[in-house]
Amino acid sequence: MKYIVQGGSDKSGLKGSIRVPGDKSISHRSIMFGSLAEGTSIISGFLEGEDSLNTLRAFQAMGVNIDGPVDGKVTIEGVGMHGLTAPAGPLYVGNSGTSMRLLAGLLAGQRFDVELSGDTSLSKRPMKRVTDPLAEMGARVDTAEGGKPPLKITGNQSLNSISYQMPMASAQVKSCCLLAGMYAQGKTCVTEPAVTRDHTERMLKAFGCDVEVQDSQACITGPAKLIATDIDVPADISSAAFFMVGASIAEDSDILLQHVGINPTRTGVIDILKLMAADITFSNQQEIGGEPVADIRVKSSSLKGVHIPEELVPLAIDEFPVIFVAAACADGQTIVSGAEELRVKESDRIQVMADGLVALGVDARATDDGMIIQGGSIGAGTVYSHDDHRIAMAFAMAGLRASGEIHIEDCDNVNTSFPGFAELAASCGLSIKVLND
Ligand code: S3P
Repeated sequence: MKYIVQGGSDKSGLKGSIRVPGDKSISHRSIMFGSLAEGTSIISGFLEGEDSLNTLRAFQAMGVNIDGPVDGKVTIEGVGMHGLTAPAGPLYVGNSGTSMRLLAGLLAGQRFDVELSGDTSLSKRPMKRVTDPLAEMGARVDTAEGGKPPLKITGNQSLNSISYQMPMASAQVKSCCLLAGMYAQGKTCVTEPAVTRDHTERMLKAFGCDVEVQDSQACITGPAKLIATDIDVPADISSAAFFMVGASIAEDSDILLQHVGINPTRTGVIDILKLMAADITFSNQQEIGGEPVADIRVKSSSLKGVHIPEELVPLAIDEFPVIFVAAACADGQTIVSGAEELRVKESDRIQVMADGLVALGVDARATDDGMIIQGGSIGAGTVYSHDDHRIAMAFAMAGLRASGEIHIEDCDNVNTSFPGFAELAASCGLSIKVLND
């Protein structure tokens, strides 16, 4: 599938009041914890995208009765910590790094063997970052050459607790260790080098599990037990980010994004856009199921280039593709550094974005750990998303400022995180056509 977005002189701004789909990180975790809990959990606002559906299917394959999703509602009959059963074959998790890395921790503590596999993109991504701490805990997880998927997990190992100093700022690695820690004897602690998203810690608490968090350390004491609870999944700030940037860069925009999760470990994109002089305001702030949410209003503004503070990088890690587009439209230079993790996402997001921006006539230079962009104008041309959902959607928003048509190739994977993106963006004023090939 490809997108054609129409730039040119008759471009309009983004307008409307919309709710983007449910948070991907929270949707994955709601299935995992609901499945292991005792009792029935009802999830609302669940993301019906391929990534979270792959997690849902994995638990169905391990014998959990899961009904839905129907209009974002999922009913899970929890089987308890030891109620999962061996699946008939390998668990295929598609494009989803979160499914593979969190499941690796969870499945390391089961009494059966299981294999986790993924698509071409996931099969190139590093898994040693989870198999190393799991090996320290006494788990048996074999990888393909170079620490890549598939993962072959041998069950029936007795896990010991560890105190792990994480070498990179990764919520997936932290969560993997904590989930394995639920099956270990004693207290497992993970210390992170920078703040990362804390949905695992928050949701485990909502499921009645005692997670201790102090400064940069999270600890869990095993064996743990989860009690069913209902979860209201807020709209995904990572999906809302495309509209925040779109509304900021397009003249005559005024958009309201409803019920967006504003967990402080996820709001780096808002802090960064505000540093760039974006006009973003919150209303209707409330806390739902341990997660803060708000309606977010964004109006057009004249962005300016900034050197993005490195401590904001992990708090905006998934939003850089579209932040690079904002930088291309800003006045002056934007420097991103300390963001080498972007090279091991669904694609090498530093190289792929730099190549695409250059193809559109932007002065963008990839560095080892980020990018240097001179803001100016965006031209017309063809860009390749390399099957990366967030690259495709970022370049779609670039159309709001392009001098002509942008053709975006390989957009099928937008469905992993944002089903209905093109239709929703079109309803707000983006001139976007979808071509099926
Ligand atoms: C996620 C954590 C982040 C993020 C990913 C989802 C999660 O990955 O990029 O999209 O749900 O825990 P890392 O923790 O590897 O940075």
